[in-house]
Amino acid sequence: MTGAEGAAPQPREVGFRPVTAAETERANRRDWDDEADDYQREHGEFLGDAGFVWSPEGLGEAEARLLGDVSGKRVLEVGCGAGQCSRWLRTQGAEVIGVDLSLRQLQHSRRIDQETQVAVPVACATATALPLPPGCVDLACSAFGALPFLLDIDTALAEVHRVLRPGGRFVFSVVHPVRRMLPDDPSAAGLTVVRSYFDRTPYVELGRDGAPTYVEPHHTLADWIAAIVGAGLVLERLVEPEWPVGHTRTWGGWGPERGALVPGTAIFVTRRG
Ligand SMILES: C[S@@+](CC[C@H](N)C(=O)[O-])C[C@H]1O[C@@H](n2cnc3c(N)ncnc32)[C@H](O)[C@@H]1O
Repeated sequence: MTGAEGAAPQPREVGFRPVTAAETERANRRDWDDEADDYQREHGEFLGDAGFVWSPEGLGEAEARLLGDVSGKRVLEVGCGAGQCSRWLRTQGAEVIGVDLSLRQLQHSRRIDQETQVAVPVACATATALPLPPGCVDLACSAFGALPFLLDIDTALAEVHRVLRPGGRFVFSVVHPVRRMLPDDPSAAGLTVVRSYFDRTPYVELGRDGAPTYVEPHHTLADWIAAIVGAGLVLERLVEPEWPVGHTRTWGGWGPERGALVPGTAIFVTRRG
């Protein structure tokens, strides 16, 4: 669930190098704006206009119920993209707001609002500076939204903590950290360790002018847990969805062959203490 697989201009250079949080955000905003049309064309049907899919393994909130009862709750979706998860939450009786960095993704959300007549209120903003007052939501969620694309996960988690009411849950899915060791290949060829799990240097693509055009940070499992606890959230559960038998769809580095052996997604179920 990354924006890397579209038809963007060829990068001048790709590799692993240090970048700042500001460069990361700038690059990913542009990348998602450039990739949004291809992304929605390629994955929109799998996601469903009003569907809540946690990950390429196809785990749906309708079966997982990681958020608990959402009816009547005020829910924030962080990195909402075209608002599919938020729209599903609305069909379950929740009041929602979606936040996303990419204006083009939000334009797709508006398009789907009009097609489905289920509208999602959205704001164009970064997860590290949520445009919401303290304690204003009962629940927060994110299905590969924002967090896999952030260097500064501490600030993003602190922001979610700030806007959640005490006791409110925040559930979010990200690329499973073990995936960093392996190539972005869902076949058996992607089963050989090629990088250190402990090397946090981000994957970066550089444009013609030498500026980053795409950044994929890496945080180990211990980094995620430290950030969750550091933000004042309590980790209730870690879910590693297994690849379902008969599910043949590939998505970037996710697919049935490697998915049967290696986790592709980590879902953190947390709560504001
Ligand atoms: C993989 S999509 C997730 C949305 C939806 N759940 C889906 O699966 O399509 C990732 C979204 O995160 C957004 N995003 C990336 N960095 C962000 C940031 N710093 N703040 C808010 N949203 C961000 C992107 O614009 C994109 O819409």
